[in-house]
Amino acid sequence: MFKKKIKEIFIGSNNKGKLEEIANLLPKSLKICSNLEYQIPSPKETGASFEQNSLLKAKYFSKKTNKICLSDDSGIEIDILDKAPGIYSADWSGKKRNFNLAIKRVYREIFKIDRNWKKKKITARFICVLTIFWPGGKFVSKLGKVEGRISISKKGKNGFGYDPIFIPNRKRLTFGEMEPKKKYKIDHRFDAFKKIRKFF
Ligand code: IMP
Repeated sequence: MFKKKIKEIFIGSNNKGKLEEIANLLPKSLKICSNLEYQIPSPKETGASFEQNSLLKAKYFSKKTNKICLSDDSGIEIDILDKAPGIYSADWSGKKRNFNLAIKRVYREIFKIDRNWKKKKITARFICVLTIFWPGGKFVSKLGKVEGRISISKKGKNGFGYDPIFIPNRKRLTFGEMEPKKKYKIDHRFDAFKKIRKFF
């Protein structure tokens, strides 16, 4: 099963930003199916780690579609917040997935801990676990990350989620200010993807 290259895959995500980015990483010859055609509701993310949630999603969507499935669980860890929001990154944006609210909360929580935070380097990282799940029950999960810091203000209109407040190490622009193609080459998702690329 693992020796055969994957020809068709279902991307198990209802997040348009992720879908776009994952589709961009995959080879153009691959047939991609997604919830743009299927509209399968997302499962409850009850896992206690990125690994558990990624597997839970890949397994769920594979069972629903009977296809090989690729899922992503990701989020941002901010060190001064004891790695919050972490696996709860999507939850911080509320039911309506409003990331202005999530970003305001990040700034509020950091300020509560250190009023002078803007003068300091607030280290953070994006984490992504990609899982491929085969209908027979086999799976592969790999973790990727990108280290960086929190920007002192929200910058840029590109990307999604926390992109406007994350500056990767050795760069001056936030992911929100970067050309999407540049972000895709250095981020957590690409780091995880490199480790599963051989299956495609
Ligand atoms: P989940 O994997 O569905 O739990 O959602 C992860 C959440 O983390 C997303 O809704 C985003 O808010 C955030 N996130 C994950 N990857 C990225 C990224 O590449 N840029 C910005 N935010 C991200």
